[in-house]
Amino acid sequence: MTTSRIRKAVFPVAGLGTRFLPATKTVPKEMLPIVDRPLIQYAVDEAIDAGCDTLVFITNRYKHAVADYFDKAYELEDRLERRGKTELLELIRNPLPSHVRAVFVTQHEALGLGHAVLCAKPVVGDEPFAVLLPDDLIWNRGPGALRQMADHAEQTGAGVIAVQDVPREMTSSYGIVATDGFENRHGRINAMVEKPRPEDAPSTLAVVGRYVLQPGIFDALESTQRGSGGEIQLTDAIAAMVAQGTRHDAYRFQGTRFDCGTHIGLIEATIRFALDNEKLNGPAREAMQRALDELGVASND
Ligand code: UTP
Repeated sequence: MTTSRIRKAVFPVAGLGTRFLPATKTVPKEMLPIVDRPLIQYAVDEAIDAGCDTLVFITNRYKHAVADYFDKAYELEDRLERRGKTELLELIRNPLPSHVRAVFVTQHEALGLGHAVLCAKPVVGDEPFAVLLPDDLIWNRGPGALRQMADHAEQTGAGVIAVQDVPREMTSSYGIVATDGFENRHGRINAMVEKPRPEDAPSTLAVVGRYVLQPGIFDALESTQRGSGGEIQLTDAIAAMVAQGTRHDAYRFQGTRFDCGTHIGLIEATIRFALDNEKLNGPAREAMQRALDELGVASND
């Protein structure tokens, strides 16, 4: 049993992002902004808050924008400097703190989330690590969701999977876990199923895109057959480990999660972050009121 602190965070960002076409024809889903920062930035901040110093991005050949975002932009920096725009310069000068490094690994074919995680094996090696799906944006005033999970993983040596209760009719959109019950925020997982129909779901506890995994997951992924949609599912590999008795805990994190992989989730996150922003709060309220008033008029026509 490994009980060390996670240092590495894997960001599988090689999906096709079809739900946001046509935008995602050229803009990776992870680069869609919430107010002024792309989704990937929020996930990276959460990983750094949890103590990670190595960020592993699993990308594909179309996703140069993600690498460019974390690279230096010499020309832009030079222009801002010459114009004396120091505030803006600070925003882009150091995309990552100096103790953090970014590593990019190409997933040549979109063979699923499990396969994307497996692509990180040479970089992660034999230590526990985190997986963050940036389209699940988690907002919390206190410690980030991943930090909460990393603390629990460090204390227990278990794999830790973020979960949230969902309405039963939504189970077919999620990985669903069953546990032996809950103590505080965590419960040991005894079953895990990918996207069950509501009538087959063992519970309504849905997996959210944050995981702390032990290195044994790589062996499990290597022996996982392609599942639904011809993809290698991370859920199947975790379920196999659970079946073999390897402890994985479901963790009800503190925070609000926005499913920014869907249109309404992205809109809701934008509203929430705008209302939480000192400068935007007033204008955002006014804009929303105007929209509601105008639509109210339209619906009476
Ligand atoms: P999703 O199921 O959200 O798929 O992937 P997607 O391609 O991003 O988006 P839609 O459904 O077509 O709109 C879950 C996560 O796994 C990554 C995605 O980038 C996303 O972060 N992923 C998925 C990969 O990195 N590689 C894959 O082969 C599949």
